[in-house]
Amino acid sequence: MRRLFGAVVMALAVCLVPAFADTYPSRPITVIVPFAAGGPSDAMMRILAEHMRQTLGQPVLVENVTGAGGSIGVGRAVRSRPDGYTVSFGHLGTHVANGAVYRLGYDLVADLEPVVLLPSNPMIIVSKTSVPAKSLSEFIAWLKAQPNPASAGTAGNGSGSHIAGLYFEQVTGIKLQYVPYRGTGPAMNDLVGGQIDLIVDQTSNAINQVRAGMIRAYAVTDARRLATAPEIPTTDEAGLAGFHMTLWSGLWLPKGTATEIVETLNAAAVAALNDADVQNQLKNLGLQMPGPDQRAPEVLGTLQRAEIAKWWPMIRAAGVVPE
Ligand code: MLT
Repeated sequence: MRRLFGAVVMALAVCLVPAFADTYPSRPITVIVPFAAGGPSDAMMRILAEHMRQTLGQPVLVENVTGAGGSIGVGRAVRSRPDGYTVSFGHLGTHVANGAVYRLGYDLVADLEPVVLLPSNPMIIVSKTSVPAKSLSEFIAWLKAQPNPASAGTAGNGSGSHIAGLYFEQVTGIKLQYVPYRGTGPAMNDLVGGQIDLIVDQTSNAINQVRAGMIRAYAVTDARRLATAPEIPTTDEAGLAGFHMTLWSGLWLPKGTATEIVETLNAAAVAALNDADVQNQLKNLGLQMPGPDQRAPEVLGTLQRAEIAKWWPMIRAAGVVPE
C-alpha cells in the first residue's frame, strides 16, 4: 500500500512540475514606457499591450515613468527583478543616445536583455501652421531669417526628437532652441497651439495632426515616401539629400532574466505584430513592421550595438549635456 502511495505521489509530482515551470506569467506584467502618455512610444505600446494581454492571459500594464530623456524610466526597469514582470520599452533615443548624454548608472547593453525589435518609422519635420513656408527650402530660409533660434520641442536631451533636431541643425547649419517635454505628446499639444515653432518628430506622433491641417509637414527623413501619406516629400526630394533617420523601438528585460521568459514575451509581441488589426493601426501611423527575419531577440541586440557605434560620435561631437 505504502509503495502504491509513493508511486502516485511521484507520478503527480512529475505531472505538476512542468506545469508549474510554465506558469509565466502568473500575474500582471508592467511595461515601463519612459515618456508621457499620449506620445508615440505610449501609443505604440498600448496598441501592442492589448493584443499581448490576450496571448499571455495576464494584464499587460503600461506605466509612464518620465524624465531625463527617458533614462529615468529605463533605469527603473534595469533595476527591477529579472522575473519577467517589469519590461523596458525604448528606442534609438533611450537605448542608444541616452548613453552618450547621461552618466546612466547602468550599461545599456550589459544590463539589459533584448526581447524583440518593434516597428520603426522615419522622422518628420513639422511646424506650427503660422510659419509662412510651403516647402522645406522655404522653411529652412525662414528658420535662418529669425532673429533668435526657433523653438524646437523635444522629449528631453538624448530623446529621439532631440537627436533628430541635432541632426537637422547639422545638415542645415541652422541653430535651434530646444524646449524639453516629458514626451512628444505634450510637445505636440504646444506645436498645435503655436507655443513652439517645430518638432523633428516621429511620424507616428505627427501624422494625424498633419492630416487634420493642425500642423504643417515638410518632409520625412527617408529615401521613400510614406505609404500612408504619399503626399509628403522625402528629405531627398525636398533638398536635404541623405538626411535619413529611422527611429526603431524595442522591448528589453533586465539582464539575467530566464531565457524561457524572454522567449515567452518575444512570442507574445510577435503574435501582436502578426495580427492584421494591430498592423493596420500601426501602419496607419506610418510605422513599418520588422520583417519576418527580424523577430528574434538577438536582432534587437545586434541593431542596438550597431546604432551605438553609429550615433555616439555625432552626439558627443554636438556636445550634448544632460538637461
Ligand atoms: C522621443 O522623442 O524620444 C519619443 O518619441 C518621445 C515620446 O515617445 O513621447
